[in-house]
Amino acid sequence: MRPGGLAWLPLFGLLGGCGGADSAGEAAGADPGARLYALHCSACHQRDGRGRDGAQPSLIGAPTVAGDPEGLIRWLLFSERPATLAPRRYASVMPAFGWLSDAELAAILSHVRSAFGNDYPAVAPAMVAAARRLQR
Ligand code: HEC
Repeated sequence: MRPGGLAWLPLFGLLGGCGGADSAGEAAGADPGARLYALHCSACHQRDGRGRDGAQPSLIGAPTVAGDPEGLIRWLLFSERPATLAPRRYASVMPAFGWLSDAELAAILSHVRSAFGNDYPAVAPAMVAAARRLQR
């Protein structure tokens, strides 16, 4: 065998793996809440907010989404389970998003509360900030 003859093969594999469509970016649009949702949430809850049976809940009309936003905010910030979220029954686990800024979380939650047919009031960054302060 010629020295180095097969050494190229892995390289072809690598090149082949490149260049998938950026599906999160596509859903972008101008609304920062929609963009952030596409980036951080849609892999699990799906673009249309319906989730996937047995894996992630739907966000459409979900009591946690519809109700007093404080429970919703604390779930996102600290994974503090709201009373409106049924005992664990999904195959995946949701990470906390406390590392996002108040403005980013407010934008995402306002989007979730107004998209997919939901029609609930927006969440202000000050509400996220207040929930964060209380926890400390
Ligand atoms: C890795 C997958 C995953 C990601 C990413 C994720 N979630 Fe979740 N989400 C879940 C799962 C699983 C549950 C149910 C958790 C449980 O029962 O313990 C859940 C529950 C929820 C609930 C409560 C729904 C209800 O029925 O009361 C809300 C609201 C929610 N997620 C919003 C979001 C938002 C907003 C984002 C993005 C910032 C997000 N999730 C990102 C998997 C995910």
